[in-house]
Amino acid sequence: MARLNEDNLVRARELIALYPHKRSALIPLLHLLQEQDGYLTADGMQHVAELVDLTPAEVRGTASFYDMFHLEPVGKYLVAVCTNIACLLHGAYELVEHIEQSLGIHPGETTPDGMFTLEDAECLALCGNAPCVTVNWRYFGNLTPDAWDSLVEDLRSGRLGSEVPPHGTLSRVRRAVGLRAGGAAGSPEVAGAPAPEVELATTRTTPAVASTLAPGGVQRDAAATNGVQATQAGGDRRDAGNAGNDAGGTVSGTEDR
Ligand code: FES
Repeated sequence: MARLNEDNLVRARELIALYPHKRSALIPLLHLLQEQDGYLTADGMQHVAELVDLTPAEVRGTASFYDMFHLEPVGKYLVAVCTNIACLLHGAYELVEHIEQSLGIHPGETTPDGMFTLEDAECLALCGNAPCVTVNWRYFGNLTPDAWDSLVEDLRSGRLGSEVPPHGTLSRVRRAVGLRAGGAAGSPEVAGAPAPEVELATTRTTPAVASTLAPGGVQRDAAATNGVQATQAGGDRRDAGNAGNDAGGTVSGTEDR
């Protein structure tokens, strides 16, 4: 896949319509593109550039600034290990070493079977459950080497398929947002007229993952473990869909799966 597909193109236009200037929709559009292909393809970025009237270089320059965007293919599971202070004091370096041995790769590399890409990360905002990792931006905390081995086994076997979505997916909860937007992609022919109401099918970050980790394996019952709840990284991050909320939309809340 290269350019935005038909459905995503519709969504892209809805997003652009939320902003007074097309270029303001750039970050949400890049998230949309990454959700589609797992990373930002050159053709996809070209398409985004056309949509928001920027040059491909400007789009690439923005995308390359942010850690969450990947300009090269990544593995099915993008594993980010926090090595910041709280995690460091709780064995993050040892954990990284263990993960390197277990996967046979170093940070920045992808396993030959394309299953895992490893990254080291700055604080992932789960300091209370250090050391922690994210897998496709879903949290796993209090991670011991044994718990990591269990996690890898679960990921390889597909047992966490319903909890850890494909890389690029910020949220799996889609909401219908009723809002008034009169942006660049609105109806230029009615400029000055009351802004049209745009009904958006957007996504919003939620704690979608209910699994918990404890030494010896992935457990589903938070109350039965040390209380570490695996949830979505950047729980209050704004995503492409949340742009709807940025524009003052009211959330009516419909789930898409
Ligand atoms: S230091 Fe690791 S999550 Fe904050």
